Amino acid sequence: MFITGPRRTTRPLPPSPPWLPLIGHVHLVGALPHVSLRRLAERYGSDGGLMTLRLGVVPTLVASSTRAAQAVLRAHDRCFASRPSSVCGDVLSYGRLGIALAPYGEGWRQAKKLAITHLLNASKVQSYCAAREEEVALVITKIRGAAATGTAVDMSELLSKFTSDMVCRAVAGRSFRVEGRDRVFRELIDESNALLAGFNLDNLYPGLATAAGGVLVRSARTKAERVWERWDRMIDKQIDEHATVLHEDQDCDFIHMLLSLQEEYGLTRDAIKAIVVNMFAAGTDTAYLVLEFAMAELILHQEAMATLQYEVRSSITKGQNTIFEDNLVGMTYLKAVVKETLRLHPPSPLLLPRVSLEDCDIKSFHVPAGTSVLVNVWAIGRDPKEWDAAEEFMPERFIQNGEVKGIDFRGKDFQLLPFGSGRRMCPGINFAVASIELMLANLIYHFDWKLPKGVDKIDMTEVFLLTVSRKEKLRLVPM
Ligand code: HEM
Repeated sequence: MFITGPRRTTRPLPPSPPWLPLIGHVHLVGALPHVSLRRLAERYGSDGGLMTLRLGVVPTLVASSTRAAQAVLRAHDRCFASRPSSVCGDVLSYGRLGIALAPYGEGWRQAKKLAITHLLNASKVQSYCAAREEEVALVITKIRGAAATGTAVDMSELLSKFTSDMVCRAVAGRSFRVEGRDRVFRELIDESNALLAGFNLDNLYPGLATAAGGVLVRSARTKAERVWERWDRMIDKQIDEHATVLHEDQDCDFIHMLLSLQEEYGLTRDAIKAIVVNMFAAGTDTAYLVLEFAMAELILHQEAMATLQYEVRSSITKGQNTIFEDNLVGMTYLKAVVKETLRLHPPSPLLLPRVSLEDCDIKSFHVPAGTSVLVNVWAIGRDPKEWDAAEEFMPERFIQNGEVKGIDFRGKDFQLLPFGSGRRMCPGINFAVASIELMLANLIYHFDWKLPKGVDKIDMTEVFLLTVSRKEKLRLVPM
């Protein structure tokens, strides 16, 4: 409804590298798009950090500086508030329902309002404090077993299970660990991410979905439908169980809340299911990646590890044998470590793709309606014009007079945008940060950590698959 026809303008498009017929700039985007897009922006972007690429046939605006991000996410927030359609995304989101992949409009607005007001607000997140403390205690017990025998722990697996168990408890009221469903859940998240990640045929040539009966994207659609069917069966079962068990406290988990608010928000069953998939998928991979990168950076920076350990170990009263959430309040260095990890390793380095709803002018450039938009928050977090020693892990950069101050990550400061900004910003910040801080504080409080015998360095090579993870599993020995 907001899309307008082409407008006469004398302004040029933002600058572009040379391109090839048919593929445009696809050949210039490597396996780590955030890295290659930064390199391209440095060479070809405007000094305000804007660049246009043609990815297949899709015109794409790339914003790679603080000023460019501010223009896209604040000054023109409404214009860039939609998400592009794609064959796999449309299937996995029940036909563009829910929040994360829904187009800008009334359905998205209602779903997001519901999530912010009822599912993920600060007091709701606080109500999961006991669940978080229980889940953290389970992880610590497991690590203790390994510490007793001097065995290395697969931190990647342990931390990813922790975040998915936390999300399952919030969404469905219990973890899927007991029934062994956590493995299926893990597979579904990995397969969905692989289908949604970036630059596949369907995203590069959207016309293929309709051309020649959609033959060329049939295989992608079939794969997406298979994954969707498995999601659907799992969530249907959860909803049926919730609908039959009337809980005294209808606020106890997301599914109960969604069912009790169904009428007020005019939600269909499919809309509920799409929101549930969003919560499962968006909440799991992101938070665990931050924990894993934080541990890897701390092992690489032993001084930071020692400072954090000192803070955590001296912050609690004698005789207390674990860290509770109440203890986190004064842990300045812990919060600075989390911020610094989010600066260097934002799990979604290009945010989620957006699309412009109407023609707009940004500074001296013209951006036509229907342009895809990527904001390279990874490049912005490492921009030497914004950050001293930009590539270094230095949590103390966020500490002033003993307090965590300065640039924050909640979408107001455009130098640090791991959760995005504006209307499409992540609604799960409180939920994620609460789990990350409590888990990290306990990992550091209970154990000293070292690399396994024979391993003398940590390989920080990344893999891009919607989110960015470390290529190698992180294996550490607790002591
Ligand atoms: C460290 C953890 C997390 C990070 C770094 C993160 C990051 C992001 C980013 C970058 C976006 C896209 C923002 C944009 O386009 O401007 C996003 C969207 C979203 N996130 Fe998160 N997220 C995290 C945790 C969570 C959690 C725990 C939940 C829910 C349980 C969640 C739910 C969502 C949803 C529903 C959206 C879609 C918002 C929309 O399209 O309006 N996220 N997140």
